[in-house]
Amino acid sequence: MLNKLTASELVLNEDGSVYHLNLLPEDIAEKIILVGDPDRVAKVSKYFDSVEIRKNKREFYTHTGTLRGERITVMSTGIGTENIDIVMNELDALVNIDLKQKEFKTEHTSLKLFRMGTCGSVNPDVQVDNMLVTQNVVGLDGLMHFYQDYHFENEFSKNFYEKFPYENIKPMLYFSEWSEELGELYKDAKYHGNTATFPGFYAPQGRQLRLKALDDQFLETLNDLGITNFEMETSAIYAFSKLLGHKAITVNNVIANRRRGEFSSDHHASEKNLIEWVLERIIK
Ligand code: URA
Repeated sequence: MLNKLTASELVLNEDGSVYHLNLLPEDIAEKIILVGDPDRVAKVSKYFDSVEIRKNKREFYTHTGTLRGERITVMSTGIGTENIDIVMNELDALVNIDLKQKEFKTEHTSLKLFRMGTCGSVNPDVQVDNMLVTQNVVGLDGLMHFYQDYHFENEFSKNFYEKFPYENIKPMLYFSEWSEELGELYKDAKYHGNTATFPGFYAPQGRQLRLKALDDQFLETLNDLGITNFEMETSAIYAFSKLLGHKAITVNNVIANRRRGEFSSDHHASEKNLIEWVLERIIK
Protein backbone atom coordinates (compact mmCIF):
# COMPACT_ATOMS: atom_id res chain seq x y z
CA MET A 1 0.00 0.00 0.00
CA LEU A 2 1.22 3.55 -0.79
CA ASN A 3 2.12 5.61 2.24
CA LYS A 4 0.38 8.72 0.85
CA LEU A 5 -3.41 8.49 1.11
CA THR A 6 -5.62 9.97 -1.60
CA ALA A 7 -8.48 12.44 -1.01
CA SER A 8 -11.07 9.73 -1.73
CA GLU A 9 -9.61 7.32 0.91
CA LEU A 10 -8.85 9.62 3.80
CA VAL A 11 -11.81 11.96 3.45
CA LEU A 12 -11.51 15.28 5.29
CA ASN A 13 -13.82 18.23 5.80
CA GLU A 14 -12.88 21.76 4.67
CA ASP A 15 -11.33 22.58 8.05
CA GLY A 16 -9.13 19.45 7.87
CA SER A 17 -11.23 17.43 10.32
CA VAL A 18 -12.00 13.72 9.76
CA TYR A 19 -15.13 13.34 7.66
CA HIS A 20 -17.80 11.76 9.89
CA LEU A 21 -16.55 12.51 13.39
CA ASN A 22 -15.87 16.14 12.41
CA LEU A 23 -12.82 16.25 14.70
CA LEU A 24 -9.25 17.54 14.55
CA PRO A 25 -6.38 15.67 16.24
CA GLU A 26 -6.28 18.19 19.13
CA ASP A 27 -9.99 17.62 19.87
CA ILE A 28 -9.55 14.20 21.51
CA ALA A 29 -7.83 12.81 24.59
CA GLU A 30 -6.04 9.43 24.63
CA LYS A 31 -8.65 8.17 27.11
CA ILE A 32 -12.04 7.95 25.39
CA ILE A 33 -15.43 6.83 26.65
CA LEU A 34 -17.64 5.46 23.86
CA VAL A 35 -21.40 5.51 24.33
CA GLY A 36 -24.14 4.73 21.79
CA ASP A 37 -26.76 7.36 22.53
CA PRO A 38 -25.84 10.99 21.63
CA ASP A 39 -27.90 12.18 24.64
CA ARG A 40 -25.64 10.23 26.96
CA VAL A 41 -22.59 12.34 26.04
CA ALA A 42 -23.74 15.35 28.12
CA LYS A 43 -24.86 13.03 30.91
CA VAL A 44 -21.22 11.89 31.16
CA SER A 45 -19.46 15.21 30.56
CA LYS A 46 -21.50 16.96 33.26
CA TYR A 47 -19.18 15.18 35.72
CA PHE A 48 -16.07 16.72 34.05
CA ASP A 49 -14.28 19.63 35.81
CA SER A 50 -14.63 21.54 32.53
CA VAL A 51 -15.49 20.83 28.88
CA GLU A 52 -13.25 22.51 26.27
CA ILE A 53 -14.53 20.87 23.04
CA ARG A 54 -18.13 20.24 21.97
CA LYS A 55 -18.53 19.04 18.39
CA ASN A 56 -20.99 16.88 16.49
CA LYS A 57 -22.04 15.58 13.09
CA ARG A 58 -24.87 13.09 12.51
CA GLU A 59 -24.95 10.70 15.52
CA PHE A 60 -21.33 11.38 16.48
CA TYR A 61 -21.27 13.81 19.43
CA THR A 62 -17.97 14.51 21.17
CA HIS A 63 -17.13 16.36 24.39
CA THR A 64 -13.53 16.68 25.59
CA GLY A 65 -12.49 18.16 28.90
CA THR A 66 -10.77 17.26 32.13
CA LEU A 67 -11.85 15.12 35.04
CA ARG A 68 -9.86 15.32 38.28
CA GLY A 69 -7.22 17.12 36.21
CA GLU A 70 -6.93 14.40 33.52
CA ARG A 71 -7.89 15.03 29.89
CA ILE A 72 -10.76 12.81 28.75
CA THR A 73 -13.16 12.49 25.82
CA VAL A 74 -16.69 11.10 25.65
CA MET A 75 -18.13 10.31 22.22
CA SER A 76 -21.35 8.78 20.89
CA THR A 77 -21.15 6.16 18.15
CA GLY A 78 -24.85 5.57 17.43
CA ILE A 79 -25.93 1.95 17.15
CA GLY A 80 -24.15 -0.95 15.49
CA THR A 81 -20.82 -2.22 14.22
CA GLU A 82 -21.15 -0.41 10.89
CA ASN A 83 -20.83 2.82 12.87
CA ILE A 84 -17.93 1.35 14.83
CA ASP A 85 -16.15 0.84 11.48
CA ILE A 86 -16.27 4.62 11.03
CA VAL A 87 -15.47 5.53 14.63
CA MET A 88 -12.46 3.23 14.98
CA ASN A 89 -10.91 4.12 11.61
CA GLU A 90 -11.37 7.85 12.13
CA LEU A 91 -10.20 7.84 15.76
CA ASP A 92 -7.10 5.94 14.71
CA ALA A 93 -6.53 8.37 11.83
CA LEU A 94 -6.68 11.28 14.30
CA VAL A 95 -3.72 9.91 16.26
CA ASN A 96 -1.76 7.75 13.80
CA ILE A 97 -2.06 9.56 10.46
CA ASP A 98 -0.67 12.98 9.67
CA LEU A 99 -3.88 14.49 8.26
CA LYS A 100 -2.15 17.41 6.56
CA GLN A 101 0.44 15.27 4.76
CA LYS A 102 -1.97 12.31 4.47
CA GLU A 103 0.83 10.00 5.57
CA PHE A 104 1.13 7.39 8.29
CA LYS A 105 3.00 8.67 11.34
CA THR A 106 6.12 6.74 12.30
CA GLU A 107 5.32 6.90 16.02
CA HIS A 108 2.26 4.94 17.13
CA THR A 109 -0.26 6.30 19.66
CA SER A 110 -2.39 3.80 21.55
CA LEU A 111 -5.83 4.96 22.69
CA LYS A 112 -7.66 3.66 25.76
CA LEU A 113 -11.27 3.02 24.83
CA PHE A 114 -13.98 2.50 27.41
CA ARG A 115 -17.29 1.40 25.89
CA MET A 116 -20.22 2.05 28.22
CA GLY A 117 -23.43 0.51 26.90
CA THR A 118 -26.50 -1.60 27.48
CA CYS A 119 -27.15 -5.26 26.77
CA GLY A 120 -29.62 -8.09 27.23
CA SER A 121 -28.60 -11.15 29.23
CA VAL A 122 -29.25 -14.67 27.96
CA ASN A 123 -28.12 -16.31 31.16
CA PRO A 124 -31.25 -16.45 33.34
CA ASP A 125 -29.13 -15.84 36.47
CA VAL A 126 -27.63 -12.55 35.25
CA GLN A 127 -29.90 -9.93 36.81
CA VAL A 128 -31.03 -6.64 35.24
CA ASP A 129 -29.58 -3.30 36.44
CA ASN A 130 -26.13 -4.76 37.05
CA MET A 131 -22.78 -4.22 35.33
CA LEU A 132 -21.38 -6.89 33.02
CA VAL A 133 -17.82 -6.61 31.69
CA THR A 134 -17.06 -8.31 28.36
CA GLN A 135 -14.03 -10.60 28.53
CA ASN A 136 -14.54 -12.59 25.30
CA VAL A 137 -16.64 -11.49 22.37
CA VAL A 138 -17.99 -13.19 19.27
CA GLY A 139 -19.07 -11.02 16.35
CA LEU A 140 -21.98 -12.40 14.36
CA ASP A 141 -22.02 -9.21 12.27
CA GLY A 142 -19.29 -10.28 9.83
CA LEU A 143 -17.57 -6.88 9.71
CA MET A 144 -13.98 -7.97 10.30
CA HIS A 145 -14.07 -10.40 7.34
CA PHE A 146 -13.76 -7.32 5.10
CA TYR A 147 -10.29 -6.64 6.60
CA GLN A 148 -7.16 -8.58 5.73
CA ASP A 149 -5.09 -10.22 8.43
CA TYR A 150 -7.74 -10.33 11.12
CA HIS A 151 -7.63 -13.58 13.01
CA PHE A 152 -8.08 -14.20 16.70
CA GLU A 153 -8.36 -17.50 18.52
CA ASN A 154 -8.46 -18.62 22.13
CA GLU A 155 -10.06 -21.48 24.08
CA PHE A 156 -13.44 -19.77 24.18
CA SER A 157 -13.48 -19.04 20.44
CA LYS A 158 -12.32 -22.55 19.45
CA ASN A 159 -15.05 -24.20 21.51
CA PHE A 160 -17.71 -21.75 20.30
CA TYR A 161 -16.79 -22.11 16.62
CA GLU A 162 -16.68 -25.90 16.79
CA LYS A 163 -20.11 -26.20 18.40
CA PHE A 164 -21.94 -23.32 16.68
CA PRO A 165 -24.84 -25.08 14.90
CA TYR A 166 -26.10 -22.44 12.43
CA GLU A 167 -24.15 -23.26 9.24
CA ASN A 168 -25.42 -20.25 7.25
CA ILE A 169 -24.22 -17.76 9.92
CA LYS A 170 -20.96 -19.55 10.76
CA PRO A 171 -18.91 -17.90 7.96
CA MET A 172 -19.65 -14.47 9.51
CA LEU A 173 -18.21 -15.25 12.95
CA TYR A 174 -15.11 -13.57 14.32
CA PHE A 175 -13.73 -13.30 17.83
CA SER A 176 -11.80 -11.00 20.13
CA GLU A 177 -11.16 -10.31 23.80
CA TRP A 178 -10.76 -7.40 26.23
CA SER A 179 -7.57 -5.56 27.08
CA GLU A 180 -6.37 -7.32 30.23
CA GLU A 181 -4.72 -4.10 31.42
CA LEU A 182 -8.05 -2.23 31.34
CA GLY A 183 -9.79 -5.29 32.80
CA GLU A 184 -7.84 -4.68 36.02
CA LEU A 185 -9.82 -1.45 36.50
CA TYR A 186 -13.13 -3.34 36.42
CA LYS A 187 -12.16 -6.30 38.63
CA ASP A 188 -15.04 -5.67 41.02
CA ALA A 189 -17.86 -5.69 38.41
CA LYS A 190 -20.75 -7.95 39.41
CA TYR A 191 -20.43 -9.99 36.21
CA HIS A 192 -17.69 -10.85 33.73
CA GLY A 193 -18.95 -12.55 30.61
CA ASN A 194 -18.79 -13.66 27.02
CA THR A 195 -20.69 -11.28 24.78
CA ALA A 196 -22.27 -11.89 21.37
CA THR A 197 -22.53 -8.88 19.06
CA PHE A 198 -25.25 -8.85 16.39
CA PRO A 199 -26.08 -6.88 13.23
CA GLY A 200 -29.60 -6.12 14.53
CA PHE A 201 -31.82 -5.94 17.61
CA TYR A 202 -34.76 -8.15 16.61
CA ALA A 203 -34.41 -11.51 14.82
CA PRO A 204 -30.59 -11.37 14.93
CA GLN A 205 -30.99 -11.40 18.74
CA GLY A 206 -33.84 -13.94 18.62
CA ARG A 207 -36.63 -11.35 19.13
CA GLN A 208 -39.90 -12.10 17.35
CA LEU A 209 -42.58 -9.47 16.83
CA ARG A 210 -44.49 -10.18 13.59
CA LEU A 211 -41.52 -11.93 11.96
CA LYS A 212 -40.16 -15.32 12.98
CA ALA A 213 -36.52 -15.59 14.02
CA LEU A 214 -34.23 -18.32 12.76
CA ASP A 215 -34.69 -20.61 15.73
CA ASP A 216 -37.02 -20.55 18.77
CA GLN A 217 -34.17 -21.98 20.83
CA PHE A 218 -31.59 -19.35 19.78
CA LEU A 219 -31.09 -17.83 23.26
CA GLU A 220 -30.76 -21.20 24.97
CA THR A 221 -28.37 -22.49 22.29
CA LEU A 222 -26.04 -19.48 22.58
CA ASN A 223 -26.19 -19.55 26.37
CA ASP A 224 -25.22 -23.25 26.25
CA LEU A 225 -22.17 -22.21 24.19
CA GLY A 226 -21.10 -19.90 27.05
CA ILE A 227 -22.63 -16.60 25.91
CA THR A 228 -23.88 -14.38 28.75
CA ASN A 229 -25.21 -11.35 26.88
CA PHE A 230 -26.23 -9.80 23.55
CA GLU A 231 -25.46 -6.32 22.17
CA MET A 232 -24.41 -4.55 18.97
CA GLU A 233 -20.92 -2.97 19.15
CA THR A 234 -18.25 -4.73 21.20
CA SER A 235 -16.98 -7.31 18.66
CA ALA A 236 -15.83 -4.55 16.32
CA ILE A 237 -14.43 -2.31 19.09
CA TYR A 238 -12.30 -5.16 20.44
CA ALA A 239 -11.23 -6.49 17.03
CA PHE A 240 -10.21 -3.08 15.65
CA SER A 241 -8.32 -2.39 18.87
CA LYS A 242 -6.29 -5.57 18.35
CA LEU A 243 -5.59 -4.72 14.69
CA LEU A 244 -4.76 -1.05 15.23
CA GLY A 245 -2.92 -1.34 18.56
CA HIS A 246 -5.43 0.29 20.92
CA LYS A 247 -6.77 -0.95 24.26
CA ALA A 248 -10.48 -1.47 24.78
CA ILE A 249 -12.96 -2.66 27.36
CA THR A 250 -16.76 -2.77 27.46
CA VAL A 251 -19.00 -2.63 30.47
CA ASN A 252 -22.70 -2.93 29.79
CA ASN A 253 -25.64 -2.25 32.00
CA VAL A 254 -27.93 -5.29 31.75
CA ILE A 255 -31.27 -3.70 30.86
CA ALA A 256 -33.07 -6.89 29.79
CA ASN A 257 -33.05 -10.47 30.99
CA ARG A 258 -34.19 -12.23 27.84
CA ARG A 259 -34.70 -15.63 29.40
CA ARG A 260 -36.97 -14.28 32.14
CA GLY A 261 -38.64 -11.67 29.91
CA GLU A 262 -37.65 -8.87 32.33
CA PHE A 263 -36.72 -5.26 31.51
CA SER A 264 -35.13 -2.72 33.86
CA SER A 265 -37.78 -0.96 35.97
CA ASP A 266 -35.75 2.28 36.03
CA HIS A 267 -33.11 2.34 33.32
CA HIS A 268 -32.43 6.07 33.93
CA ALA A 269 -31.28 5.30 37.47
CA SER A 270 -29.14 2.40 36.22
CA GLU A 271 -27.64 4.59 33.51
CA LYS A 272 -26.58 7.17 36.16
CA ASN A 273 -25.17 4.37 38.27
CA LEU A 274 -23.22 3.01 35.28
CA ILE A 275 -21.73 6.43 34.42
CA GLU A 276 -20.60 7.04 38.01
CA TRP A 277 -19.25 3.47 38.32
CA VAL A 278 -17.10 3.86 35.18
CA LEU A 279 -15.82 7.37 35.91
CA GLU A 280 -14.77 6.36 39.41
CA ARG A 281 -12.67 3.51 38.04
CA ILE A 282 -11.05 5.01 34.96
CA ILE A 283 -9.87 8.29 36.53
CA LYS A 284 -8.29 7.97 39.96
N1 URA B 1 -28.97 -3.77 23.53
C1 URA B 1 -29.09 -4.84 22.70
O1 URA B 1 -28.50 -4.88 21.62
N2 URA B 1 -29.92 -5.85 23.09
C2 URA B 1 -30.61 -5.84 24.24
O2 URA B 1 -31.36 -6.78 24.52
C3 URA B 1 -30.48 -4.71 25.09
C4 URA B 1 -29.63 -3.69 24.70
